[in-house]
This record gives sequence, structure tokens and C-alpha cells, in this order.
Amino acid sequence: MIQNKNESISELNWLNLPNINLTVKSLFTSYLLTIGLGAILASAQILMTHGMADGELGLSVDDIVYSYHGDPTNSKIETKLNGSMKDKASDADRLEIIKWVRDGASEEQWNEKIRDIVYTNCISCHSTIPGLPDFTQFEEVKRVAKADHDGASATSLTRISHIHIFAISFIFFFNGMIFSLSIGIKQWFKVLIVSAPFFFLCIDVFSWWLTKIDAGYAWLTIISGFGYSACSAVTWFVSLYQMWVLPRKDKNYKINSWES
Ligand code: HEC
Repeated sequence: MIQNKNESISELNWLNLPNINLTVKSLFTSYLLTIGLGAILASAQILMTHGMADGELGLSVDDIVYSYHGDPTNSKIETKLNGSMKDKASDADRLEIIKWVRDGASEEQWNEKIRDIVYTNCISCHSTIPGLPDFTQFEEVKRVAKADHDGASATSLTRISHIHIFAISFIFFFNGMIFSLSIGIKQWFKVLIVSAPFFFLCIDVFSWWLTKIDAGYAWLTIISGFGYSACSAVTWFVSLYQMWVLPRKDKNYKINSWES
């Protein structure tokens, strides 16, 4: 049967967050709560790896610079021993390693005493976990004991760039899709807030490469990360609110949220 176009669209007036049925609400809610947990874990992980890169808790521009650009005034091993590896050895042992590094990291002293310290404190991970430098090899210790002029390698940046873009755009897509069913929000604002995270995501990844080349771009990483977190947080809260709180107000929302 051929229907009048406008009629068939208005029949979809149940298509909005307060009105959709319990199955769809449960699906959306489980998804939102799970990515919420993921976001908390991701923040913790960022704080623990990048956040501690300069040895102080909290994410700063210096952290981004050390992670992507490197720190030519310091060796990576010293930065880490004052940062995310701080709790891996006693203060005395850390000091011994740092002194050795500052004295030029000679093989002689390595054989004399540093190797024992490193074997005791570090190689349980740094010889077993793939991707970490293997500290049973003197060359690999030597490499992280040199001033860090490079920061993140192009290979590792390429790998994390594409994983980051593919994985996170899924999160933004579903989060934005759910939010698109919200009601009472101006169209221009919806358009802005569902598209902006993708824009920030590309800027974020691009800024890692820029920061690797020039430390002056580290602020871009912070701004873009803040940008997509803020947009996602707004859509996340609005979606949950409209699914679970709005229907309690005893109004009947007869709106097709996808109709333009
Ligand atoms: C419990 C496991 C574990 C132990 C023990 C450990 N590390 Fe690590 N280390 C890691 C992990 C995981 C990373 C990668 C994440 C990071 O950079 O914080 C890492 C990264 C590093 C890096 C940076 C490597 C790179 O190429 O970016 C250095 C340097 C380092 N550790 C030094 C040490 C030293 C020195 C010790 C001993 C005092 C030590 N670690 C003990 C797990 C460990």
C-alpha cells in the first residue's frame, strides 16, 4: 500500500529516547555504562603512563612532550625511575642506577654492581613482557640510559594511531547514534556535538606526530582530548537522563527524533 510520505513519517512518533521500549533502553544503557567504565579505566591508564612521565602525578604539557617528543636533558631510564617505575625499586637502588646513568653508563660498572640491581628489581617484567626493553641485554639498557632525543618511535606511533582511530570512532559512533534519539535539543547543537568528537579524534592523533617533531604542539593533544571527552560526557548524560528520568514526568513524548 502506498502511503502519504508525511503520514508514514509521523507514525514514527515513538522514536525518541523517553519512548523507546525497555529492550532497546537496556541495550543502550548497558552499552553506555560499559563505555563509561572504559573511560574511567582509560583515564587511570593515561595518568599512570603519560601522567607520570615527568615524575609528577597529573597530566601536564611536559608529560605529553616527554612521551612523544622525548626529553634531551634526561635519559628515559631516569625519567621512568622518577615516574612510572618509581615503585619498582628501593630509593637506594634507584639512586645507584641513576648515578650510574649520569656517570656515562659504563659496561664496567654494569658488570660490577648495576646488573645485580637491575636483575633483582626489573627483569621480572623487562625480559618477559613483549614490547618492553629486555634488560638482560646490556645494549637495551644502554639504549634507554642515553639522553632521549626521539620520544615515541614512528613505528609505535603508527600502530597506536590506527588502533586509536578505529577503536574510538566506534565508541563515538554508537554514543552519538543513541544521543541522536534525544528530544528537545536544537538541531544545530546535535549536529555539532555528534560530529565534533570525530574532528577532535583526528586532531588528537595528528598532534602526537606534530609533538614528536616539535614539542610546541603538546597543548593540541590536551585540548583535543579535553574536547572529545567533554562532548562525549554531555551526550552520555543526556541520553541516560532522557531514557530513565524524563519518562517519569508522566508526559507523552510524541516526537520522531530522526525527522528533520
Ligand atoms: C611489574 C613489571 C615491571 C617492573 C618490575 C619494572 N617495569 Fe619498567 N616498565 C613496565 C611497563 C609495563 C612499562 C611500559 C609502561 C610505562 O612506560 O610505564 C615499563 C617501561 C619502562 C621503561 C620505558 C621503556 C620504553 O622504551 O619506553 C623503562 C626505561 C623502564 N620501564 C625501566 C624499569 C626499571 C629500571 C625497572 C627496575 C627498577 C623496571 N622498569 C621495573 C613494567 C615493569
